[in-house]
Amino acid sequence: MKVKILRQVSPVSEPYWESFTYDGPEENSIAGVLDYINYHDDVINDEGKSTTRIGWECSCLQGICGACAMVINGVPALACETFVKDCKGKEITIRPLTKFPVIHDLLVDRSSIQENLKKTDMYVGEYKQGADADHEHQYLAAKCLKCGLCLEVCPNYVNGESFYGAAFANDCYLVASRNRDKAGEITKLYGEHFGKDCSKALSCMDVCPMKIPTIASMAKFNRGRL
Ligand code: FES
Repeated sequence: MKVKILRQVSPVSEPYWESFTYDGPEENSIAGVLDYINYHDDVINDEGKSTTRIGWECSCLQGICGACAMVINGVPALACETFVKDCKGKEITIRPLTKFPVIHDLLVDRSSIQENLKKTDMYVGEYKQGADADHEHQYLAAKCLKCGLCLEVCPNYVNGESFYGAAFANDCYLVASRNRDKAGEITKLYGEHFGKDCSKALSCMDVCPMKIPTIASMAKFNRGRL
């Protein structure tokens, strides 16, 4: 199988495609494929030339940390949760997320996700839990990996602009539901950085590896029931 990877040496250099032949097991994940290619002392591309190891990022290798988010065959996905046997055709294309600045090869700078949460003070500190809290929804919203896949697929998200996307919207719900006295202030921030510009494409929910029901968080804000 051919594996075509969009590579880039540094943040300021030009990207280029490089192809490799993968003859490892079909049960491997895309993370496994990248490891397989990188494993050899001399990494050889499809033109028979020696090349550098592919830069990419991972930690847990079990769909928990979100580090391995990339675009695989045109679909934003986690490399450790996407398997060769499920990829159609004889070629797999892999490119870095397009909404974030590339650092090197498949490694991107997703710090804007955390920066947007910091700027709006959207984090859970000490809180008082009401007896009527929707624990199930809070638990789901808290599963966000901040992997950026929801932002990659969102037609409205542009890195550095004022629309912060689904990752922000779910944290708004989480923080507001645990700090009811701040709910008014958080609803305003939610509207400013999410509600007013979301076009309800909801493709964010299709690609979310944790299956977070963003639409349910939106409904809570729309009905004022946090
Ligand atoms: S390496 Fe952690 S989600 Fe893939």
